[in-house]
Amino acid sequence: MERTLIIFKPDAVQRGVCGEILTRFEKKGLQIVGMKFMQISQELAETHYSAHKGKPFYEGLVRFMTSSPVVVLVLQGKGAIEICRKMMGATFGFKAEPGTIRGDYGVSSSFNLIHGSDSPESADRELKLFFKPEELIDWTPAIQGWVYDLSKGQPE
Ligand code: RTP
Ligand code: MG
Repeated sequence: MERTLIIFKPDAVQRGVCGEILTRFEKKGLQIVGMKFMQISQELAETHYSAHKGKPFYEGLVRFMTSSPVVVLVLQGKGAIEICRKMMGATFGFKAEPGTIRGDYGVSSSFNLIHGSDSPESADRELKLFFKPEELIDWTPAIQGWVYDLSKGQPE
């Protein structure tokens, strides 16, 4: 089982669509193992997006991410990182396919509603930036055996 860091960005919170977006992930079968409402500090935003430091959009991105509260969550599932990236859609709302979160909810290149880790390495790094180990909860959803075929001992 894989874990990924998801952020409902300031525009998602301000526009009141966090619940709808979360519902998509829950219906897909992804499991919440951590979630909090928070204000991202300048330092945390800079660290989180440090790979983009020096790019023309970096300062605006940090300003946006610190402009209003966000919801941060950790989702768990088989292949969760790739599944979430596919569900998010392309980076810019005007390019993202209909059916994806960014494709259905936005048109902007900057205000694109959601962040998701883009690799296992990024997920590992980002989880630690936003959550203490004790804030992530190991639990088994009662519906697990209907979300996955567990008959061979592994989720399929
Ligand atoms: P994210 O990290 O937020 O999940 O987004 P992403 O992987 O789809 O895109 P990434 O390349 O990591 O860029 C991070 C955020 O920077 C803004 N951006 N603006 N104007 C531009 O050319 C540009 N490129 C990227 C977007 O808000 C993007 O989500
Ligand atoms: Mg990214």
